[in-house]
Amino acid sequence: MIYAPDALILAPLSGFTDAPYRRSARRCGCRYAFTEMVDAASLTFAFDRSKDLLLRYDDEEFLGVQLLGGQTDHIREAVEKINRFNFDILDFNLGCPVPKVAKKCAGAELGLHYDEAVRCFDTVAKYSKFPVSAKLRILDTEDPEPTLKLCRGLVDCGAQVLTVHGRVKKAFYSGPVYFDIIKAVREEFPEIEVIANGGVNSVASYNEIKLRTGCSRVMLATGAMGNPWLFRQLQAPESFSLPSASEWRSIIEEQAAGMVELYGDECAYRHGRKIFHDYLKGRGFNGSLRAIASGTANAADLSNWLDMAVKSGVWADE
Ligand SMILES: Cc1cc2nc3c(=O)[nH]c(=O)nc-3n(C[C@H](O)[C@H](O)[C@H](O)COP(=O)(O)O)c2cc1C
Repeated sequence: MIYAPDALILAPLSGFTDAPYRRSARRCGCRYAFTEMVDAASLTFAFDRSKDLLLRYDDEEFLGVQLLGGQTDHIREAVEKINRFNFDILDFNLGCPVPKVAKKCAGAELGLHYDEAVRCFDTVAKYSKFPVSAKLRILDTEDPEPTLKLCRGLVDCGAQVLTVHGRVKKAFYSGPVYFDIIKAVREEFPEIEVIANGGVNSVASYNEIKLRTGCSRVMLATGAMGNPWLFRQLQAPESFSLPSASEWRSIIEEQAAGMVELYGDECAYRHGRKIFHDYLKGRGFNGSLRAIASGTANAADLSNWLDMAVKSGVWADE
């Protein structure tokens, strides 16, 4: 077994789930997490630039790596490079819908081409020294058959886990989640761990996806952006309370410090702005605070708006 029953998993999120991001989630109870997706061609041709994506902190109990690619020669080389590192699982991306990925027939586009998708995944499975899994989108919102066919091909190649995002490629990351198709996968492959993904951002949506798909394992993505406390809340909803101001602040400061260590000041704060923006969402802060945060250029700027936020926010008691 890869994931315990009822496991909550932090999704791979390109541009987000680097090691400092995962540390914030882990402080809030996340055990299972993924790297950002790593492109097979980049690992093949620009290894030094992309290997930072493979960083794993010593205290990370479980970490999966996610590979994106559409060409078997690049995939093979990338897997051989990944094999030199230490991961708990190697996941193959069949869900990324962005045009620049689709153009190379990778991600969700590859998922639409059964033979190529299975050939690529077979290469992953053949060369990986880690257990392998795939993360895919549903292929049709009404008819489960196309999705089941793809899943069967992946399972026959050796997938031990399937993560099913209950939206089609053209829906990107929003809109309804088609629970029945995820449920059909869950029922078709009782021997496989099937992880349900899509739209979980609260206790109610978490309970709904579990109930309607029959999956006990759930992957969190946009719902946990700026809200790593979602892990804690879903694991113990009765005893959950909002983070205190000091906890909220220390999570952000520690994440920023981790990014500075990895990328240097300039790049860390540039990259950090979208992350700070997420932390400010839905907490009642006014637009001017958000505008100040989006100009963060150094540790002093960060400390300045955190002081303001701590004074103006609504917080649980310390
Ligand atoms: C900014 C962003 C980056 C993402 N990066 C990845 C990625 O690297 N690999 C992947 O499989 N999915 C990626 N996804 C998709 C999520 O993992 C997830 O499947 C999707 O957001 C649906 O879950 P949600 O509705 O709970 O957010 C990304 C989504 C977003 C919004």
